[in-house]
Amino acid sequence: MSVSDLDWNAFSALPTESKVTFFAREDGFPFHTLFAQQFDRLLLDRLGGLATQIRTVAKTKSGMLFLQGLLGHKRAMLYFSQPSSRTFLSFYSACQILGLKVAEVRDRSTSSEFKGESQEDSIRTFSSYFDLIIMRTQEKGLAEKMAWTLSRSSRPVPIINAGSGKDQHPTQALLDVYTLQRSFERRGGLHDRSIMYVGDLARGRTVRSLSNLLMNYENIEHIFVAPDKLQIGADILEMLSAHGIRFVVTNDMRAHLPDVDAVYMTRIQDEWDERKGESAGIDTSAYKIGPEEMRMMRPDAILMHPLPRRDEISTEVDHDPRAMYWRQMRNGMWIRAALIASTFGMARCIEQYFRESL
Ligand code: NCD
Repeated sequence: MSVSDLDWNAFSALPTESKVTFFAREDGFPFHTLFAQQFDRLLLDRLGGLATQIRTVAKTKSGMLFLQGLLGHKRAMLYFSQPSSRTFLSFYSACQILGLKVAEVRDRSTSSEFKGESQEDSIRTFSSYFDLIIMRTQEKGLAEKMAWTLSRSSRPVPIINAGSGKDQHPTQALLDVYTLQRSFERRGGLHDRSIMYVGDLARGRTVRSLSNLLMNYENIEHIFVAPDKLQIGADILEMLSAHGIRFVVTNDMRAHLPDVDAVYMTRIQDEWDERKGESAGIDTSAYKIGPEEMRMMRPDAILMHPLPRRDEISTEVDHDPRAMYWRQMRNGMWIRAALIASTFGMARCIEQYFRESL
């Protein structure tokens, strides 16, 4: 069966695990990247390895010129209808590393959407001009709908979801896992670990995608720390339970802080408030990390944040070697370059160049 056999209602009603089978390339890498559920352990290891090879190759001028030659014949559209700085720039730089030419629409008021055009029509338009569409939207299922639409069209260009509503942020999860892998690789690897997520877990998409990806690693315990109103969705807990994965749901950050291997902080996502001032009415003072909390953490634990931060991590801890958020951001550029290269079938070519240049 192919996507063409299913109308939108039939397709969208499928469980995610079935949907992802339509979006894979023959070599196993994703064609469209929409959900964290598309990545299994094999793919995660291969992508992480590829990202590390790309960053090594990029250190020399000849290596950089090789990388820039790979996709110099391709063009990418960055369609970001929701605010972004680092994800946008990280994709922009990843495209540049691979030689892709990049165009962007970030402000819908300057596009034909201002004249009443639907986002669907805008994206179809981009598919006529570009070979890859990287998109961030407020709407939960739009990237998926566009992938379904384009897969049935005469120009089935790949889509990468750079953040969809409150639901998924698969490439952030890739960079988070890559950061965890690199942080623990000299200390026995990414298994038998506990990770604590703190902040707005109800509306933050990064934790939803990351907890999903971490199911690929053995014996990871998830500790969800948030005020009741901002606690993680029941669907994530059901998913973990269904896979027999241990988790804790709590308001008490300090009780667990001394035990965990990684702390993943998030900001309050008040742009989603249904009533003005709704988030401001929630006491979040117990969900912040400063020097005192760092003293409570294990000396080998790491502190992560998808950024942007507000006051949930004090700038005083930025120089602590356990603070990983700046490195995490840089890892994002390399893992996105690895993802884009594999979307276009260039993984083998890079792996071979790397081996030969050793
Ligand atoms: C995150 C996002 O957009 O979901 N930002 C990012 O991509 N690094 C987190 C956030 O906005 O809080």
